[in-house]
Parts: sequence; C-alpha cells; structure tokens
Amino acid sequence: MIKNIKTNTKEETLELGKKLSNFLFKGSVVLLCGDLGAGKTTLTKGIGKGLGVEEEINSPTFNILKCYFNKTLNLYHIDAYRLEDVPEENKNIGLEEVIDGDGCAIIEWPQFISEFIDYKKALIITITIDENNVRNFKLETENLKFEGLFAGLL
Ligand SMILES: Nc1ncnc2c1ncn2[C@@H]1O[C@H](COP(=O)(O)OP(=O)(O)O)[C@@H](O)[C@H]1O
Ligand SMILES: [Mg+2]
Repeated sequence: MIKNIKTNTKEETLELGKKLSNFLFKGSVVLLCGDLGAGKTTLTKGIGKGLGVEEEINSPTFNILKCYFNKTLNLYHIDAYRLEDVPEENKNIGLEEVIDGDGCAIIEWPQFISEFIDYKKALIITITIDENNVRNFKLETENLKFEGLFAGLL
C-alpha cells in the first residue's frame, strides 16, 4: 500500500501527524526517512498531540530515545542520528523492547538501527521537499494492520 500526501506548512504537517495517530496501535512502528529539516520531528509532534501526550515533544537527538507515557498509547520517539558510526554491538540499548513493545515507536534515521527493524511490518514514511518548499510524505507499508490508514481519512 502506498499513499502520497503533501503539506505546505508546518501546521499542516502537525495536522497530518494528528490524523495519523488514529491509526497507530500497540507495537506499531513508524519509520521517518528524510534529510535534516525534512519535518520528521514536526510530524512526531503532531502524532503526540493526537495521542494526547501533554509534554512538549522535542528532537531526542541527544537522548536517542524519549518515552511519553500516556492514557491512550505510549509513544516511544527514537532519533538514531547519533548512532550512525556506533558499532552494532554497542547499539543494543534496549531498543527492541520499545520497538516491539506496549506502545508505538516513531523512529527518525531508522537506517542507522536497521538491524532492530522489521521493515515489512513498519509504516515507512519518506519525506522530500520540492523546489517550492512543499513537503511530500510518501507512506508505504505491507502491514495490513495499517489498512485503515490507506482506506480512509488521510
Ligand atoms: N510543511 C512543513 N512541514 C514540516 N516542517 C516545515 C514545513 N514547512 C517548513 N517547515 C519547517 O521545517 C523544519 C522541520 O524541522 P524538523 O521537523 O525538526 O525536521 P527533522 O526532524 O526532519 O530534522 C521546522 O523548522 C519547520 O518549521
Ligand atoms: Mg528531528
């Protein structure tokens, strides 16, 4: 399943994240691919809003993982950017537990922790910016649990 969605502003991206949050479930994994400044963290902020996370979601670059426990669905926000040059044996910081855990995992820079990720189960979102500063969010997955996301609403 594939779908492309465009946003013109940061607010539209937050709104997209909010809508998307309705289709997340326990154990769901969302991979956010795209360059620095593409809008990965902004989309995550929108997802957090949708899930009812009250804390401010910031880029977890210096923490790698931030956990937001809340009433609906726990949100695990991972930014693997700083793990690029870390040898595989040192990356085992408990990521598997949150990636296949009791909440949803939103992962920026998933390519740096690909050994922990089941790409077939994940919702892969690739963000690109065109020459007019329009963001394109390409959503793709083979996981039928995300069917609703592709059938409706967005
Ligand atoms: N349509 C848009 N969607 C998301 N961010 C946008 C958009 N247009 C401009 N921006 C700006 O681009 C930046 C995106 O930053 P961020 O979400 O932190 O990116 P990333 O996490 O991918 O590095 C923000 O400063 C935001 O205000
Ligand atoms: Mg970011």
